[in-house]
Amino acid sequence: MFESRYRSHHDSGRALKDILEPYIESKRLTKKDFEEVMDSYPKNDKRVLYVHTPYCDKLCTFCNLNRKLLQNGMEQYTNYIVSEFERIGKTEYIKSKPFDALYFGGGTPTTYSESEMDKLLNSLTKNLKYSEDYEFTFETTLHNLTDEKLKIMQNYGVNRLSIGIQTFSDRGRKLLNRTYDQKEILKRLNHLRDIFDGHMCIDIIYAYPDQTEEEVINDAKLTCEVMADSASFYSLMIQPGSALASMIENGKFKFERTNEWEINLHNKFLENINNNYEILELSKIRRKNRDRYRYITLRYDNADTFPVGIGAGGNVANMGVFNMSPEMQFYSYTDEISKKYNKILGHMQYAKYDLKYFENEISEYSMDLLEKRLKEYVKNDYAFEDENKYVLTNEGLFWGNNIAVDLLGLIIKNEFEFNK
Ligand SMILES: C[S@@+](CC[C@H](N)C(=O)[O-])C[C@H]1O[C@@H](n2cnc3c(N)ncnc32)[C@H](O)[C@@H]1O
Ligand code: SF4
Repeated sequence: MFESRYRSHHDSGRALKDILEPYIESKRLTKKDFEEVMDSYPKNDKRVLYVHTPYCDKLCTFCNLNRKLLQNGMEQYTNYIVSEFERIGKTEYIKSKPFDALYFGGGTPTTYSESEMDKLLNSLTKNLKYSEDYEFTFETTLHNLTDEKLKIMQNYGVNRLSIGIQTFSDRGRKLLNRTYDQKEILKRLNHLRDIFDGHMCIDIIYAYPDQTEEEVINDAKLTCEVMADSASFYSLMIQPGSALASMIENGKFKFERTNEWEINLHNKFLENINNNYEILELSKIRRKNRDRYRYITLRYDNADTFPVGIGAGGNVANMGVFNMSPEMQFYSYTDEISKKYNKILGHMQYAKYDLKYFENEISEYSMDLLEKRLKEYVKNDYAFEDENKYVLTNEGLFWGNNIAVDLLGLIIKNEFEFNK
């Protein structure tokens, strides 16, 4: 049904933006507008904090995220983030309410030294509050996560690790330029299970060059064996500017993949996950009753995301905020229409179309169109009916972001063109 695939929520988010473009007004806002929001903010919304660390001590071949190779230590950046916590800690917005989820992402936020990490987290807890039921995540990679750093993180309340594993295959790890072989990662993950009380979540990438069925099956089995609390499984995106993209452009190796090859690896991964796991969203499985994934679920529900650090973006009240550098931020207006449909796109990530949910969001005529199209997906084996819900099959999960964009296109066109 589809030719090219939207591989992630970012891809479908961009497609949604294009669909909405004719119907919304885009506006640049200023630092003054932002400061006004920070000084007079309604106190009842859910909120999450995102802190970006744009450094890694080693670069992976597939990655073009907002990160640089660490050259001169992290002292200067630590001091900058500490000064940001102190500055924002004085505002009404920050003082008025605790954060429900905190997320240190990157790059790799465990590249700080132990003393820098202590300084950073000490300043965080002095200047910002967390709610009672908070979730506090650190992204990390095993080779720079020492026991001492973990102890410091736990002392300041970190209760969730998002660990980039990518693959357990030694061949795959070399290709992706990851540190350690399978034996060493298993040893370290098992050790972490023993000393860390929080949730241990991992990232897996599939459909990398020449990946075999055996490799993906092994990744699924070992994910269960180390009892990961959740695992994201993204198919490799060849990112412009990444080392892998250059290797392919320069003809160092050939990489021509077909949808059939990719779907097969995707399905093999899911088929080899044991019964202790369930689908959490399009590209994520969770050990039952474990990872709560509050940072993302709150964001899907339109919670504010307060961004700190260079390269961090978020949204505060009706403003989009992006920190380009310490001196330069961009502010934009987020209209109610975009909020509404982004929230629906967020809901669609859960891989279940619950008609009751949509009845409250869209018109009756759009409901008819939605149901008709969902029935077509059932006919094509992308979904099955379960009472009032349409649940995606493994094929449906693979094409899940395309299905979401297709359905949103249908709904939005109908709501704006026919209901005028
Ligand atoms: C910031 S990184 C995770 C933490 C840490 N930096 C690490 O790699 O160990 C975010 C995750 O995005 C995924 N990712 C990044 N680039 C990707 C790509 N080109 N294709 C698929 N997934 C990608 C990886 O699974 C990666 O773990
Ligand atoms: S995947 Fe993680 S460790 Fe690798 S370069 Fe990207 S951010 Fe750094």
